Amino acid sequence: MKILSIESSCDETAISIVDFSGRNFSILSDITLTQIDIHKKYGGVYPALAKREHIKNIYPLLLESLKKAKLLKKRKSIKKIDDKMIKDLEKIMEHDSHNFRNMIDLYQNYEKPNLKCIPVTYGPGLEMSLWTGFNIARCIEYIWNIPMVPVNHMEGHIYSSLIVEKSKNKFTIPKLSYPSMSLLISGGHTELVLIKDELKYKIVGQTLDDAVGEAYDKSARLLGVPYPGGPVVSKYAENFREKNGSDVEADLLPRPMLHTKDLNFSFSGLKTAVLTIANKQKRKTQKFKDTLCYEFEEAVSDVLIKKTVKAIEKYKIKELVLGGGVSANDNLRREFKKLEDKSHLNGLKVYLPAKKYTGDNALMIAIAGYFRFKNDKYPKNTKKVVGNLKLK
Ligand code: KG4
Ligand code: ZN
Repeated sequence: MKILSIESSCDETAISIVDFSGRNFSILSDITLTQIDIHKKYGGVYPALAKREHIKNIYPLLLESLKKAKLLKKRKSIKKIDDKMIKDLEKIMEHDSHNFRNMIDLYQNYEKPNLKCIPVTYGPGLEMSLWTGFNIARCIEYIWNIPMVPVNHMEGHIYSSLIVEKSKNKFTIPKLSYPSMSLLISGGHTELVLIKDELKYKIVGQTLDDAVGEAYDKSARLLGVPYPGGPVVSKYAENFREKNGSDVEADLLPRPMLHTKDLNFSFSGLKTAVLTIANKQKRKTQKFKDTLCYEFEEAVSDVLIKKTVKAIEKYKIKELVLGGGVSANDNLRREFKKLEDKSHLNGLKVYLPAKKYTGDNALMIAIAGYFRFKNDKYPKNTKKVVGNLKLK
């Protein structure tokens, strides 16, 4: 079964086309266009610019993806479009006249491709960004009568971590044992999600203020590192470890909420502590930055590990899924993998996403959307994106 998925929740425009059979799949096309260079100078994602870029890039990306998957067939003659269809498309594309014209072009000039459904991210994320991908999916559903499957971006991150490559372009998604636990760490989220069953979730812990990725990015900015600072903070901390080993005691920064009974987190105090130390230091040498980033990473991993272990013990979990952009972090990957050797966790298995699938991509939306479609568990007639959509 071939499906086409769309992701535009933040600063990446992505489309993938995937061929599924049971829990196995191969990738026919998987392209992610990133806007990082555009947002860098603003120190973060600038929503109006993100929207402009999504609008500009999505149709050429759609055609390129279909072509790559050998699903783009130009019609011999232009197909007639009636007034009702034009009116309906105009309504869907009320705020995107550029792609309104492109959707008419798509209908008039191309044959309907053999696609079973169109999974698309409808939240959480920046609503200004989400709308572009979502409305394109709605138009495809309308003109070609291919069902749109609205997908939660965070569920995508969970599936992203489960991708197992068996051989060249042959992948599979293992079935978890339920309940499982997922720790999702990204620019906008830090949450412990109990996976009660396939496609059934309960958030059992979350940040009360900043997300981990946000703390990384804000701390990076205090050290003069441009957005997104996470990877650079990580590099500086690794510099420190290479020089001094990884067992150096780190006690400069607080571990917010480390000892609270619940499974929640807080990272804004950590950022403030970084600010205080950075302000006191006149000459911010590389050595100073490396040390502070090491201290920062140790504080972050202490808190994330402690609360995750607490959740694993509480819910008697056998499999842990680490996901989201921050799961690209080398230190966290090492520290979480070490949990597999802890005898008191009884042979816990830890799933880490392949590095190339840690960031936002459309493949993860295709996988989540495929399982939702196959099980007929997706919202129908959705006409709106939901910026603060929650997993449930
Ligand atoms: O999931 P993601 O790509 O986008 C959101 O949905 O938010 O996550 C982006 C976040 C950013 O805050 C970025 O700085 C962080 O992931 N990040 C990292 C690393 N790579 C990306 N943080 C720490 N270490 C990294 N290697
Ligand atoms: Zn994400």
